[in-house]
Amino acid sequence: MDVLLRNPSRDPDWAPPAGEDPGPFHRALPGYAPTPLRAAPELAAELGVAEVWLKDEAERFGLPSFKALGAWWAAACAVAERLGAPELRAGLAGLRERAGELGDLTLVCATDGNHGRAVARFATLAGLRAEIFVPAAMAAARQAAIASEGARVVVVDGTYDDAVARSAERGREPEALVVSDTSWPGYEAIPAHVIEGYATLFAEIGVAPDVAFVPVGVGALAAAAAAGLPAATRLVSVEPLAAACTIASARAGAPVEVPGPHDTAMAGLACGIPSPLAWPALAARFDAFCAIAEETADAGVRRLAALGLDRGECAGAAVGAALELLRRDEARAALGVDERSSVLLLLTEGITDPERFARITGRAAP
Ligand SMILES: Cc1ncc(COP(=O)(O)O)c(C=O)c1O
Repeated sequence: MDVLLRNPSRDPDWAPPAGEDPGPFHRALPGYAPTPLRAAPELAAELGVAEVWLKDEAERFGLPSFKALGAWWAAACAVAERLGAPELRAGLAGLRERAGELGDLTLVCATDGNHGRAVARFATLAGLRAEIFVPAAMAAARQAAIASEGARVVVVDGTYDDAVARSAERGREPEALVVSDTSWPGYEAIPAHVIEGYATLFAEIGVAPDVAFVPVGVGALAAAAAAGLPAATRLVSVEPLAAACTIASARAGAPVEVPGPHDTAMAGLACGIPSPLAWPALAARFDAFCAIAEETADAGVRRLAALGLDRGECAGAAVGAALELLRRDEARAALGVDERSSVLLLLTEGITDPERFARITGRAAP
């Protein structure tokens, strides 16, 4: 049973923290192109709204999710800082030229798939090493994708949150540089750059939806949505029932941990505690939080596939949540949705577990 919680601590006066614009960095990278914003009239009719837009992150810099936007900007800032030359954050070429000065510098992070792959790709592009900590339950295809970037993959016997703890320990060694999308006390500057990096995604959108559904793991993307979408857009978080730490934190009034195992196929959303750095933006700016069953996300994947969009479980989560909630009168009323409304759904990933895609849809991944 999917759950919708109206945010008890919504603050209409909330203003985003000041940040640096990552746009010039992204636009200067080889292969940069805005991802598509697709109109989906069939979905609009089904949801009983005027318009549905799909921001489609199935391909970003040749990777199957939006994650490189944050990971690469944060990594560039962190490596430039290590070199004592913050101006080098402006581009990849300058960093690569000076990588030799950094000896065995190793970029380290925990991931449930996409962030780690993006960090690993950056390390290769910048001439550095990468060590990526992954939870034991990660699908083989996702592990293989990270390894294929040239990274050392360390499998942690535990959840994503256990992998975060291991990556933080590893970060105490002098040649390690943690590029994490989640924060912990005393480790905030790099996760702040990750959130900043996602601003490019929202700057590309160029429409002002009435409501947006945002898939949430640690909440870094959600914090960027809070800052980057128009103030009038009502924001709804989407997370798995099996890892519903956003809802638990909203009820508690502060980030709290929901213990694992987090048995969900929405791997990018399988974390037990929100990023403390991201949390204030969710707590103040989001209008509602929802947690969905596995079947709801699978139905979203199938619906997208029927539209010709073969996408992963986190993308399915946004679509499934909208399909499930917007047919309920009380949810429509809570979100202020009617037949004149426009809805934005963030399709945050392409297919990252082809076997599971085939099982859900009954046909092989392309
Ligand atoms: C595909 C996908 N969607 C959404 C998210 C959620 O982003 P965040 O962890 O910043 O909340 C992730 C995070 O890994 C992801 O991989």
